[in-house]
Amino acid sequence: MSGSKNNTGAAAEAVVRSSDSQDFSKSRALQPKAHNLIPGGSHTYAKGDDQFPELAPGFIARGKGCHVWDLDGNEFVEYGMGLRAVTLGHGFEPVVEAAYKQMQQGINFSRPAKIEVDLAEAMLGVIDGAAMVKFAKNGSDVTTAAVKLARAYTGRDLVAICGDQPFFSTDDWFIGTTELNAGIPQAITELTLKFRYNDLDGMRELFDRHPAQIACVVMEAEAIAAPASGYLQKVKDLCEEKGAVLIFDEMITGFRWHLGGAQKFHGVVPHLSTFGKAMGNGFAIAALVGKREIMCLGGLDHDQDRVFLLSTTHGAETHALAASLETLRIYRERQVVEFLWKQGQQLTKLVNQSIAENRLGGVFELLGRPCNLIFVTRDNDQNPSQAFRALFMQELIRRGVIAPSFVVSFSHSDEDIQRTAEAVYESHVIYRKALDEGIDKYLNGRPVKPVFRKYN
Ligand SMILES: Cc1ncc(COP(=O)(O)O)c(C=O)c1O
Repeated sequence: MSGSKNNTGAAAEAVVRSSDSQDFSKSRALQPKAHNLIPGGSHTYAKGDDQFPELAPGFIARGKGCHVWDLDGNEFVEYGMGLRAVTLGHGFEPVVEAAYKQMQQGINFSRPAKIEVDLAEAMLGVIDGAAMVKFAKNGSDVTTAAVKLARAYTGRDLVAICGDQPFFSTDDWFIGTTELNAGIPQAITELTLKFRYNDLDGMRELFDRHPAQIACVVMEAEAIAAPASGYLQKVKDLCEEKGAVLIFDEMITGFRWHLGGAQKFHGVVPHLSTFGKAMGNGFAIAALVGKREIMCLGGLDHDQDRVFLLSTTHGAETHALAASLETLRIYRERQVVEFLWKQGQQLTKLVNQSIAENRLGGVFELLGRPCNLIFVTRDNDQNPSQAFRALFMQELIRRGVIAPSFVVSFSHSDEDIQRTAEAVYESHVIYRKALDEGIDKYLNGRPVKPVFRKYN
């Protein structure tokens, strides 16, 4: 792979993938029907129309690698594919092939399939300190299962979650704490408490205010902010001092920060942890892993009250397990994690050059690790701005890039990164003009909106 140019300034002369060539008429025609049939018009809120500018493709028809084609045949480089699940690439052949071969052998039987044990062994081989694993289809289910297990293990009801991190589960114990809490009993919401990331004193106070009542601490080892030196180990020590279970949610960090997750990257092994997303390159597979003495409560070899742990009809469909086995193999053999970091670093360098050249310091910012980059858009007063987010995404889309984030995959080649950097540069030129002349002149339609809001 070659990095053709590394100077975003040269991008000003680059061929613009102009919106003039983009026709969204097929998408536009389908959108009303989607909204009529599906609440929100999409089965995942983060993919919804309100998350994208008006000048955006409404539906994706197909994908290959990091490229997607919409219903009207427009082609884009895509970022954050499948809510960060598709880390190898769309239609990644060895994974598709492994799943397909397995499907031909049957996907669901009346007794377990051997591949359940094979993947269990492979998964536990990469996650240090985890002795047992249980698979499921969704990250939300495994994180909720971790909470239930911790409650059963400790005999306590309260759950402490990191309030600075955006998402842990679609279930009531978490969604009840957000703006989107309609339909969730107050009694459930009151069982979840919040602490601030990197604030050990705050966590200690929480434990002191609720003595012997907090079953577990649920957090991502790292989201956007990095942990202060020693913080994660001190959190673990505090949990052990107070008799609580430490749960790391590795849905995003797993197979990105390190093959062994953020827990390996930071050298702190939690009592339980949960994985999903990257585990199957987009196939529905998630895992709860952890210490034997806790996990075994979901099994048959103990004399305590049994825990109903993740037993579902579709939980261990063999083709998803086969996809995951193959994904793990590719990660090990092809140094996928290192590649994600490298491509993210290159993109960071080019985007930061563009920020400087377009005088957008303090206004447009890249945040996060290179393997998990997000961007922040601000207005002239340096306040976070959904209107400028919409404008930036609109201008990228015009230039053939769909980027709700800049989260790269194994399929983002040097050419894709370069093409993105050129699109970013040109979008930044418009961003600068919109700051100087007023955004209304440049933004087509309404701003985007956050998912977690109470009203439309
Ligand atoms: C950190 C984190 N935890 C849990 C989940 C839930 O995973 P799923 O959507 O597979 O249920 C997500 C999903 O975005 C997530 O980002």
